[in-house]
Amino acid sequence: MLSLLVPVLLSLNVLSSPHEARQSTTLKAAASPRYFGAALGAGHLSNVSDPKFAEFGAAQFSGATPENEMKWDFTEPEQGVFTFDQANQVAAFAKANNQILRGHNLVWFSQLPDWVETLQGNDLLNAMNNHITTVMTQFKGQIFAWDVVNEPMADDGTLGPSPFLTQLGSGYIQTALTTARKADNTTFLYINDFNTEGVNAKSDGLLSIVQSLKALNLIDGIGFESHFIVGELPTDIQTNLQRFADAGVDVAITELDVRMTVPPSAADLEQQTKDYATVINACKAVSRCRGITTWGITDLYSWVPGTFPNMGAALLFDDSYNEKASFTSTINALLS
Ligand SMILES: *[C@@H]1O[C@H](CO)[C@@H](O)[C@H](O)[C@H]1NC(C)=O
Ligand SMILES: *[C@@H]1O[C@H](CO)[C@@H](O)[C@H](O)[C@H]1NC(C)=O
Repeated sequence: MLSLLVPVLLSLNVLSSPHEARQSTTLKAAASPRYFGAALGAGHLSNVSDPKFAEFGAAQFSGATPENEMKWDFTEPEQGVFTFDQANQVAAFAKANNQILRGHNLVWFSQLPDWVETLQGNDLLNAMNNHITTVMTQFKGQIFAWDVVNEPMADDGTLGPSPFLTQLGSGYIQTALTTARKADNTTFLYINDFNTEGVNAKSDGLLSIVQSLKALNLIDGIGFESHFIVGELPTDIQTNLQRFADAGVDVAITELDVRMTVPPSAADLEQQTKDYATVINACKAVSRCRGITTWGITDLYSWVPGTFPNMGAALLFDDSYNEKASFTSTINALLS
């Protein structure tokens, strides 16, 4: 049987155009040795009405980031009361499918339960340290990298508004990372932010913070979210990633999507193929770029339409899980 099949498969391969042959691989295979991940929501993974989400999650991706399930409002909704059920679902899925798991996230101004916002001074300091220690201890041994501090920067390169900044001062980032290092010294510690993908005031400010933290051995990597608008990518992503790598940290594309007005025009979908390739090529050109994560799998569940009215179509698979042209361009950029 095998001897009959092999020549058939070989001849099919020969007859296929290189374009089609490339398309038949997966994101994770094409990206190796880097990982290619996706944000995975526990509610989608366990949705019996939509088994494709988990199928595609397993088949295409070698990395997982819980979309919401490790955020403070999910893990410690009441002070000192920790709930890990949904985070554990995503972690179990990642483990079952040999995926690296990104921990996301520990200290962020958003998606905080109300009780955190009411704390002052040392009460907030103690709550922050307890949160970091408890959550990191829970997942010790399972997390490739933790986004310890999420979105700390303002556009002008100073620190952005946050209860942690107000109550604890600008040292809160160093404090959080010190606590994280003590809680689990087997995982990479990251700061994750957006609009820092190109060289600009915000990434300048972040770089200077990274240089101070690196001198204290408190930072291992920087996540660049990469929520882009079609046709509006910075032209210097590679240069920017490289200057962070030169500061001695790993870099990663952590929340990639490329949104456009919906319904999408043919021109925007075509531009999207180029934009995805631009990001892939920038990461590939920087040896310390560890991997790429898209913020979801299918346009159907993307956060974009709920956050940016009249926009969507930002991911690599359409509402019906068909591979988009941007999927093919991503595969081809990964393989090139
Ligand atoms: C579950 O699948 C159904 C059918 O595709 C879909 O309408 C619904 O939005 C999905 N819910 C979640 C949480 O994924
Ligand atoms: C990591 O922490 C453990 C205790 O949890 C300690 O035994 C070990 O020496 C630490 N390793 C490094 C490199 O600091």
